[in-house]
Amino acid sequence: MSKRWEDWTAQETTDFQQAFLTWYQQEKRNLPWRYNQDPYRIWISEIMLQQTRVDTVIDYFYRFMETFPTIQDLANAPEDKLLKVWEGLGYYSRARNLQTAAKQIMEEFEGEFPTTVEDIRSLKGIGPYTAGAISSIAFDLPEPAIDGNVMRVVSRLFCIEADIAKASSRKVFDEAMRKIISYDQPGEFNQAMMDLGSSICTPTKPQCELCPIQNFCQAYQEKRQTDFPVKSKKQKPKDVYYIAGIIENNQQEIFLQQRPGSGLLASMWLFPLEEISATRFEELQERYDPNRWDLFSDALIAEDSPELFSTEAVVWQKKILGEVTHVFSHLRWHIIIFYGRNTAPLTLEGQWVRPNRFSNYVFPKPQQKMLEVFENNLADDKD
Ligand code: ADE
Repeated sequence: MSKRWEDWTAQETTDFQQAFLTWYQQEKRNLPWRYNQDPYRIWISEIMLQQTRVDTVIDYFYRFMETFPTIQDLANAPEDKLLKVWEGLGYYSRARNLQTAAKQIMEEFEGEFPTTVEDIRSLKGIGPYTAGAISSIAFDLPEPAIDGNVMRVVSRLFCIEADIAKASSRKVFDEAMRKIISYDQPGEFNQAMMDLGSSICTPTKPQCELCPIQNFCQAYQEKRQTDFPVKSKKQKPKDVYYIAGIIENNQQEIFLQQRPGSGLLASMWLFPLEEISATRFEELQERYDPNRWDLFSDALIAEDSPELFSTEAVVWQKKILGEVTHVFSHLRWHIIIFYGRNTAPLTLEGQWVRPNRFSNYVFPKPQQKMLEVFENNLADDKD
């Protein structure tokens, strides 16, 4: 068996495609965006799948399609309704970009999803991977769709040494994929790649004995499966430390603040947060002994977070409810949670909301985690 894709004969390429597509027809997962070739459905699914696992996406996908059945519905949706159906999926700029692109389709393409790679690529939020996936799956265009899974499969197939963490390596995978992709069934071919990458050709323990293209795989022949893909280490997420205040008034309302309209978690709602240093965070953690809450002094808290915690309008109940951690792609938030009772008007900007109305507000994951800690504490108190 020859080594590089340039060396594959037409017969080898055909044999490879046939083995691969036959396997896919037998094994393909029955996913809701695979029922037909509607570009709108395929687009939404591909955007959701960019950073989220298939199992998680399925429910979100059904809900999104029910809420916004057409491109026009999406273009006209109020932002809070859009964020509500996206709530919990993360990377919220994806939802906002979807809406911007829907408006683009209404204005520039008369409401019809564009049909060429260039036009698809011109839509907000669509990069080379997503353009390739939509073009091939919805429009049968022989375009590669190269993501991490595909790079893993292809790097093993041809023992490609290019570092997949580098953008410049893309062209190597693009060239290899253009040589091997099926021109008759490019969408099926790309999805076979995705399925193989997520089920058999996995990062650490590939199940080569089950692989339909084992005979064509250079890495398998050389027993070097786990040498590929070559990937340089990526930067670790940066740690950021916060204290959060859960403030309750006499009407059993809780204070919420809305994030600014741009940036991380834009326009979403959270308990008020204040950033503190790592050292301070550790100090607070050390003193965190649920049985000795008298160890906390208001002064200690006020020193860390003058704005929130020194306000006379709140009696901090010298009680830490717990801690949550949330990892974004580039940041790791550590949040320690305090509880306090409000006694006078607050100068902070925000809204008082009854917990039974929380579902009307868009809560990002870290807020959902804090809420869970709070609710568990309430349950403990009632025991
Ligand atoms: N991951 C990204 N796109 C996918 C698709 N269309 N099917 C399954 N997994 C995917």
